[in-house]
Amino acid sequence: MAAQVYIYPSILNANFDDLENEIKKITPASDALHLDVMDNQFVPNFTFDIARAFEIINFTKLPVDAHLMICDPDSIAPKYAEQGTHSVTFHFEAANNVATTISNIRSNGAKVGLAIKPATSFQEIEEFMADIDMLLIMTVEPGFGGQSFMHDQMVKVRTAREHIGRMKKEKPLLQIDGGVSLVTIAEAALAGANCFVAGSAVYKSADPAKMVDQLRKLASENFVVKN
Ligand code: DX5
Ligand code: ZN
Repeated sequence: MAAQVYIYPSILNANFDDLENEIKKITPASDALHLDVMDNQFVPNFTFDIARAFEIINFTKLPVDAHLMICDPDSIAPKYAEQGTHSVTFHFEAANNVATTISNIRSNGAKVGLAIKPATSFQEIEEFMADIDMLLIMTVEPGFGGQSFMHDQMVKVRTAREHIGRMKKEKPLLQIDGGVSLVTIAEAALAGANCFVAGSAVYKSADPAKMVDQLRKLASENFVVKN
């Protein structure tokens, strides 16, 4: 049986003035909505303040996967969990106390994602693998959509997948984010990713829902569970 893969469109490159409609386009085809929250401090870009982010979380019918590219996730991430966000991902590089933030997200009812930038190694976060629901390996420098996929991150994806293969209990999802397209998704799935964020590939296409289906097909043909 083919292993399940997950496609999470990012609305970063959607039309922000018509988000309800933009989200509707991908809702039936997608597993979750990836919401990029940027504070213009942790990354040199700004997307939503917390009030607008909560509005989006509340109006979409899809589960929301919040990707917090912000300073001080320790105090802010649990608020996203409280709001009914499906999964809350924060950056290892931004957190003061990773273990406490993981536990505060979980106790407020959300799944926990931990993200690492391209320069951060898997070994730095390995100790947290048993406590999270998803590891996000960035395949671009966080901050902007439409950048080129960093093929060199596939070594890290492979290392993470091997680690997950050795885990006995709950196995976290392995998500990648940045530059995912029909050209790059098979390579990432082969390396062991099973959850894919795609922004411009989806929203720059003439038929976003069809693009999600095509990405899913390629990912599932190339992802082979090794555990
Ligand atoms: C980048 C964001 C991504 C972004 C990906 O910092 O985290 O989620 O939307 O966009 P694409 O798919 O265009 O690289
Ligand atoms: Zn993202």
